[in-house]
Amino acid sequence: HQAMEKQRAKTLGLIKPDGMKNMGKIVHAIYRSGFLINKMKIVQLSPADAKQFYSCHKGKPFYEKLCSFMSSGPICAMELVADDGIAKWRTLLGPTNTADAKAKAPNSLRAHFGTDGTMNACHGSDAPDTAAQELNFFFNSPRKCFSGRGGSTLCI
Ligand code: TYD
Repeated sequence: HQAMEKQRAKTLGLIKPDGMKNMGKIVHAIYRSGFLINKMKIVQLSPADAKQFYSCHKGKPFYEKLCSFMSSGPICAMELVADDGIAKWRTLLGPTNTADAKAKAPNSLRAHFGTDGTMNACHGSDAPDTAAQELNFFFNSPRKCFSGRGGSTLCI
């Protein structure tokens, strides 16, 4: 049966600015779903950091709006760990667009706490390489002290 077991995996979870008013409920849902929250920090990204974090979407019509939204207020970054953690967190998130989430995954975090197609409460990495890269962005980059002038702000 060992081959059938899902591997324990780390992923980056973010509570986006619009989700922060529901942070307690979201953290409760994360624990109830069986994740370990291994690391957590609350920061406010600078516009430049948001652009770097979402650089894979550069050039898309929603890129500027997305980056200004993501730097508009505090966010909560978490290292989440669970069996099959990357897919498990994406399932708990639900579809990208809040209206889709309400229709297709009414128990998902985005259905409960999202707002629209941009403000959708939470983020999750989509693959092992992006999970490693995104965890590194928030938790290991020496330049991300989140306190430098012109940089992001450490809120807690
Ligand atoms: P994407 O990676 O497609 O979705 P997900 O967050 O589910 O992995 O898009 C990244 C974010 O960009 C998404 O959470 C919200 C924003 N976005 C828009 O604002 N408009 C859009 O049309 C799309 C597809 C995404």
